[in-house]
Amino acid sequence: MREFEHKNAYFDRLAANPRLRWMGQNTNHLPLPPQVRAAMLDAIDSDAIRGYAPPLGMEALRRGILDDLGLAGASVMVTDGAIEGLYHACRTLVGPGDEFITTDPGWRWPVRFAAAAGARVVEIPIYDAAAGYKLTPGQLAGAVGPRTRLVYLIDPNNPLGVCYTREEIEAFAAICREAGAYLIHDCTYRHFAFDHTLAAHFYPQRTLTTYSFSKWLGLAGLRIGAIVADGEVIEALASAPPNNLGSNVLSQRAALAGLAVKSSWFPGVQATQRANQAMIRDAVAGIAGLTLPVYPSSGNFVIIDVTASGVAPEALVEASSRRDFMIRQGGYHTERFAHRFVKVSTTVPAQWMREFCELLPELVATARGINAVDAKY
Ligand SMILES: Cc1ncc(COP(=O)(O)O)c(C=O)c1O
Repeated sequence: MREFEHKNAYFDRLAANPRLRWMGQNTNHLPLPPQVRAAMLDAIDSDAIRGYAPPLGMEALRRGILDDLGLAGASVMVTDGAIEGLYHACRTLVGPGDEFITTDPGWRWPVRFAAAAGARVVEIPIYDAAAGYKLTPGQLAGAVGPRTRLVYLIDPNNPLGVCYTREEIEAFAAICREAGAYLIHDCTYRHFAFDHTLAAHFYPQRTLTTYSFSKWLGLAGLRIGAIVADGEVIEALASAPPNNLGSNVLSQRAALAGLAVKSSWFPGVQATQRANQAMIRDAVAGIAGLTLPVYPSSGNFVIIDVTASGVAPEALVEASSRRDFMIRQGGYHTERFAHRFVKVSTTVPAQWMREFCELLPELVATARGINAVDAKY
């Protein structure tokens, strides 16, 4: 069987398991606001879904995204998930001879998009306790050169959960400005951060800010997000977009309803996921060889470093999947540091987390006995 068939069948099997506790993709499994459900039903009952949406998104949603970010004056392109905007931006902004810079670990799809567009990819290693598992302005300045066209910064970082300070963001923006490079500030996990600064405030001309409804609102399956940037950048992206017929109407209505209740609904999500992080911290503290490099995490996930335990991340993922938990192996995010960690998502019911934490010692013991596992994705 070809690799892509294996991979698809893998995710299909996961989705077909009604008992599966999804703790590997940073999706949100806490109850949806009833207003969001009602908005989706209304989109069907009112026949709104029978037509196309405006090409760049419903105006109310575009405004809502800008308000939520607090980025007055920028333009919004609503996309089928943040990933579509990332794909489009990477394919539009870089080409052969250009350089694309990002961190390792990070989220690897934009790396593939840039490589497919012909760019040279530079991945700066940041799995380093001495630097707080963060990219430093010095590292970025050292990597940027005359061919650097695009810097891709994930903040909060998936998988590490680190978030950059205002000073760091200001420094990154200044380095990109100096180089005349575009900066994609991937803010998919921004809502989970303790404090978050948008690079667009310092470098509005060439910063592209991504927005996702998959994580904070929990609409991953609806595929809805956005790219936010200066009008000139959006104009370039809007001239030949992958989907000029507008994003899913039902998803846009759901996203709008979510924004309307965010201030009353989201604090409960945040409290639950932070309490879940604390549960993992306590569980990990009791198991020899496991550590939590970044705590608290600024994302809705934490990584567990397994290096000192001698357990392979893939084996721990396999042991977890046998007990109906999906967690993620480091290899999804990095080749260089693949052997070091697994990632566990925290926007899940407390009961899932309690069961996972209670089982964790047993999962580690089981993983020790697993030598060969099927490919994990
Ligand atoms: C860093 C990062 N950016 C973008 C995405 C994609 O977000 P969306 O579901 O909105 O396409 C993800 C999804 O996991 C992610 O981790």
